[in-house]
Order: sequence, then C-alpha cells, then structure tokens
Amino acid sequence: MPLPRLREDHTAKPGGAIALTVNGEDYMVSAEDRTTLLDALREHLRLTGAKKGCDHGQCGACTVHVDGVRVLACLTLARQAEGLPVTTIEGLAGPDGTLHAVQAAFLAEDAFQCGFCTPGQIMSAVACIREGHAGSAAEIREYMSGNLCRCGAYPNILAAVQRAAATLREEPAR
Ligand code: FES
Ligand code: FES
Repeated sequence: MPLPRLREDHTAKPGGAIALTVNGEDYMVSAEDRTTLLDALREHLRLTGAKKGCDHGQCGACTVHVDGVRVLACLTLARQAEGLPVTTIEGLAGPDGTLHAVQAAFLAEDAFQCGFCTPGQIMSAVACIREGHAGSAAEIREYMSGNLCRCGAYPNILAAVQRAAATLREEPAR
C-alpha cells in the first residue's frame, strides 16, 4: 500500500483544534494530538462507515483516503490529515446518491456477508483500481491483501473489483 503525503509537522498546533476536510466538508475537531483519524471520524464526526476492527493496522476495516491515497485510519493521526482532503465511504457516492462503480459492483457480485469489512474493502478497491493494480486476479489479490474478511467473501470481492475495473476503464473519470 503506498504511503500518502501526510503532514509530518503534526505537533504544529499542540492542543489546538484539528481542522479536517472530510467528504468536502470542513470541520474543527476538538481532540488531543494523539487522536487517530479513525477516532476523529467515528467518535467526533459520527462518520461510522470506517470500522474499527483491530485498531492495530492489521485488518484494513478502517481504510479511508487521504489526498486520494488509501490509508489505515487507525494508524494515522488526525493531525496528519490537516489540510488534506479525506474521503470516507460516506463520501464515495455522487451528490445525487449515484453509487460509485465499486459500490455498485460489490452489490452486483454479492461481495459481502456481514458487511463489517465492506467499507474498507470498497475504499481499498477504489484505490487499487486507481493505482493501476487491478490488471489480473493475482494482482488484485496482492493489492487487496491488507483487507481481511472474516466471512471469507474473497471470491466475490475479487469479482467485484474486476467488474468495477472494467466499468471504470469505460468511464475513467470516477
Ligand atoms: Fe485499522 Fe484494523 S482497524 S487496520
Ligand atoms: Fe463479514 Fe467481510 S463480509 S467480514
């Protein structure tokens, strides 16, 4: 998984509010510098799409995009995302509610069971395709390997990523 261009001076404003731009909306979050992006999203902004599975960077359930790059929100400080656009699963559909091609593909391929891992799988899949890592089944498996699914929906997830990649090849703007 590539590393995003996160802020390195995350102690620039110790103790102050954290300015976040999430899904196009600006927020000031009153939280400690040690607050993770995942906790800022879930506990402060009530955006609970990104899931807390392991909280240790091992399951991928918390995957969101920072500046267009997938990150594990449980291993990212909210302070590091200041000044950078954050996208969560809640912001993936179009303004009129039209599902992103990856969301539609997950539905079409029945690529989930309990759904707990699904927001992270979808955010990772969007990035996987955007990175150009959806050229073959083996490549998709490799670049989606950070996202675990306890329900074992992997064959359907793979089919969904392949379907979405084909769709996005036709309409590359998304
Ligand atoms: Fe972040 Fe598991 S909750 S990787
Ligand atoms: Fe249940 Fe993936 S659908 S963990």
